[in-house]
Amino acid sequence: MARIAMLGAGFIGDFYTYSLHALRSRDRVHVIYSRDETRGRAFAKKHGISGWTTSMKEAINDPETDIVVIGLPNNLHLEAVKSAAAAGKAVLCTKPLGRNAEEAIEMLEAVEKAGVFNGYLEDLVYPPKTLKALDAVKAGTLGQVTWVRSRETHPGPHSDWFWTKEISGGGVLLDMGCHCIEIARNYIGKDIRPVEVMSVADTLVKPIDAEDNALGWVRYENGAIGQFETSWIFRGGMDLRDEVMGTEGTIWINNFLRTGFEMFTAGGKEGYVAEKAESEKGWLFPVGDELAELGYYNMFTDMLNAYEDRSEPLETFYDGYVVNEIMDACYRSAKSKKWEPVTLKVWRGKEKTPAISEVREYDKAHIFVKEERMPDGKVKIILKDKITGKISQKIKQK
Ligand SMILES: NC(=O)c1ccc[n+]([C@@H]2O[C@H](COP(=O)([O-])OP(=O)(O)OC[C@H]3O[C@@H](n4cnc5c(N)ncnc54)[C@H](O)[C@@H]3O)[C@@H](O)[C@H]2O)c1
Repeated sequence: MARIAMLGAGFIGDFYTYSLHALRSRDRVHVIYSRDETRGRAFAKKHGISGWTTSMKEAINDPETDIVVIGLPNNLHLEAVKSAAAAGKAVLCTKPLGRNAEEAIEMLEAVEKAGVFNGYLEDLVYPPKTLKALDAVKAGTLGQVTWVRSRETHPGPHSDWFWTKEISGGGVLLDMGCHCIEIARNYIGKDIRPVEVMSVADTLVKPIDAEDNALGWVRYENGAIGQFETSWIFRGGMDLRDEVMGTEGTIWINNFLRTGFEMFTAGGKEGYVAEKAESEKGWLFPVGDELAELGYYNMFTDMLNAYEDRSEPLETFYDGYVVNEIMDACYRSAKSKKWEPVTLKVWRGKEKTPAISEVREYDKAHIFVKEERMPDGKVKIILKDKITGKISQKIKQK
């Protein structure tokens, strides 16, 4: 059982509290911190929470608090983490960990120095489909992973502070790139070093200082590419899609917009359809259980089981730090329009991972390239000569 202080009574505080109370009924949020008393009281009432406070420190230092969950705007993560670490409390922080790598490493150092349990709340590596896909990849079903494409796009965030660069720290690259980058890292291998990035981040439409559209490529030491596609100006709802390409297979996942649940209504009744849905009539794409589909249940189960077992959850502050370093490099690249190195001050993965390669001997003289059955029914084989390097083709004899 864990007693939780929830910091933040907004959108994510709500999702987190519903998830925590839903699955492992032994865990309870016992105090909510909201700077606004009316909202704090209303949140407490809605979720059956006994305490509320307008003091962050009071919630953290409450002797009843085992775990601090941070669901505050990005500019408050550092302060909240430092306070939790100073109080010796376990701490789970939402994404992005920091507004930049400098903040993230300060948070990493604070929790590690204090020796407190830490978890990075990256829910999008925990959706049921993603966990199953990750198991398949780890079992070698796809061979060697060469390229991961992860997309998160929607028509823009729901609160003023996201759009204010000084508070948020950045635009869509920071807000949603962090999800896509960590999804790709999980498929490619978190122990493989991200070496360099190329990114395009522009303010195409919205009247804001930060970027509203960002694309990028993260190259890993073995040559694998993690491609992210993020936008706050996408129309049509929230699109969460991942593709994994390997030497022996492929996975395509649609996590949100098209999950196999389609509904038509001629209108007349208004109501919530799904996060960031843009229409309430016509063809709609609801989501069965958003808490499950977005990974929140699995995430908190992993976090709280690890807390009890004194083991590490799938996502820790260290992962949050690595993601922040990759995003910092992306911002540098968007400015320089060049590939920029990822400068990790702390690296805990493998050194010198060999390049992805697949050499299949065909016969004494040739290396196999590929085989394909043609429309006339014959099978064509493409080969490479081991000595001259010449590529040739032949028809397979029965
Ligand atoms: N999938 C996800 O993991 C996910 C989804 C949404 C948001 N988030 C993250 O959660 C955090 C909060 O986002 P949100 O969507 O809940 O935002 P929100 O605007 O819905 O809620 C933020 C809460 O913080 C409060 N707040 C704002 N400024 C404050 C201040 N100066 N002091 C104290 N409280 C303040 C607001 O009143 C509100 O209750 C962000 O870091 C965001 O990136 C994560």
